Amino acid sequence: MKVTVFGIGYVGLVQAAVLAEVGHQVLCVDVNAQRVENLKQGIIPIYEPGLTPLVEKHFASGYLNFTTDAAAGVQHGDVQFIAVGTPPDEDGSADLQYVLAVATTIANHMETAKVIIDKSTVPVGTADRVKAKIAEVLKVRNVELEFDVVSNPEFLKEGAAVSDCMRPDRIIVGTYDERPQDLMRELYEPFNRNHDKLIFMDVRSAELTKYAANCMLATKISFMNEMANLAEMLGADIEAVRKGIGSDPRIGYHFIYPGCGYGGSCFPKDVQALIRSSEQLGYTPTILQAVEAVNDKQKYKLPSLVQQHFGDELAGKTIALWGLSFKPNTDDMREASSRVLMETLWQAGAKVQAYDPEAMEETQRIYGVRDDLTLVGTKEAALKGAAALVICTEWQQFRAPDFDLIKAQLQHPVIFDGRNLFEPRRLEARGFTYYAIGRGETVAKAASKQVL
Ligand SMILES: NC(=O)c1ccc[n+]([C@@H]2O[C@H](COP(=O)([O-])OP(=O)(O)OC[C@H]3O[C@@H](n4cnc5c(N)ncnc54)[C@H](O)[C@@H]3O)[C@@H](O)[C@H]2O)c1
Repeated sequence: MKVTVFGIGYVGLVQAAVLAEVGHQVLCVDVNAQRVENLKQGIIPIYEPGLTPLVEKHFASGYLNFTTDAAAGVQHGDVQFIAVGTPPDEDGSADLQYVLAVATTIANHMETAKVIIDKSTVPVGTADRVKAKIAEVLKVRNVELEFDVVSNPEFLKEGAAVSDCMRPDRIIVGTYDERPQDLMRELYEPFNRNHDKLIFMDVRSAELTKYAANCMLATKISFMNEMANLAEMLGADIEAVRKGIGSDPRIGYHFIYPGCGYGGSCFPKDVQALIRSSEQLGYTPTILQAVEAVNDKQKYKLPSLVQQHFGDELAGKTIALWGLSFKPNTDDMREASSRVLMETLWQAGAKVQAYDPEAMEETQRIYGVRDDLTLVGTKEAALKGAAALVICTEWQQFRAPDFDLIKAQLQHPVIFDGRNLFEPRRLEARGFTYYAIGRGETVAKAASKQVL
């Protein structure tokens, strides 16, 4: 099939590459000319495992192409994906200007029937707005053309986006009527061989399904963080509790890890957007408000442990930081916990010496060059001369480090671990002061301010 994808970001580019891999002819359109030019030269704008070879292969084979020419994009595809960003507006609601701009572009240039697929995460009612916008522009143009608007939210996980798109758990398709369903089946047939993953529903339910999924996942995390905070105060170990509750199949082991708060481009903004949608309806979304509040607080957990530990002596100290991206296997820094950590440490007069396998370029882009931020090429180099180590992201390579080396390089053998990677007793036996999340002794330790 001929497919056009508007928006070449984490979602658009991965979806486009995967559709090209199964044989669809894909043309990607973006307003960012630099991004388009880079892609044509083989420079991939984001880090995602497996993405670069796929893009290179299909750009070379001709199945995948990139342009800024929106008219050519509209002409190309019978199917037009909208995969542009929906960032939070000032009040937290989803900003739909990019989605509606693409709808206008499609309507301005279409000459034949089109199926417009909304892949961006958008509030309930957006497909209605897209449909109305297209109808309005067609009316002004005085042309009558058939078109369908379909809601097809994306559930990929950054860091595993390619494999998630190649092997989706489910493909949600919201339609106004049965007309576009066959075409959607044909489009996704290559991903649907093992068993039927397509779930058809009405448009509004499809739109809400995406928010409900992300809000449920965010709720699991905030719930565990709340339990972790309680565990600390009660002298219990959240890791034991996690295993204890995960063994119940009604709860399960997935997504119940406590930590230093969720980040990324999706959970924070989607929880916020659903809160705003609810409030606009006059409904108070008590659970969602609590999920957001717990997370906002949890992001200050590591910085406040560091501040409590060093007290007045933090100013002027250098803190080693492992992990900048909001989660492993991505370079995405949007709403990352590491940003709250660094900004709080800087405010307290400390310096940060950081390493991340993929997100250092992005960190540099966000913060520029500054005296209190040094980005180094290895995790070992980050330790050199630092007062303590903080871990914000659970990259594989941080899980079994050389503790003797850490001890030798740090000024003080202190680790603040936002991802519970290590066994507290083992680290303490090696002479470390080890702060983790929800592991019994952390609060008491910080309160006693063991400045070394
Ligand atoms: N990132 C994820 O993990 C993820 C997962 C599922 C769903 N989503 C949703 O998918 C959508 C896209 O997210 P993303 O992370 O890929 O965004 P992104 O910011 O990485 O990419 C968006 C792209 O759209 C382009 N764009 C903006 N206006 C345009 C226009 N008028 N025409 C063409 N291109 C335009 C931008 O230049 C950018 O390249 C969002 O709604 C997001 O919530 C994201």
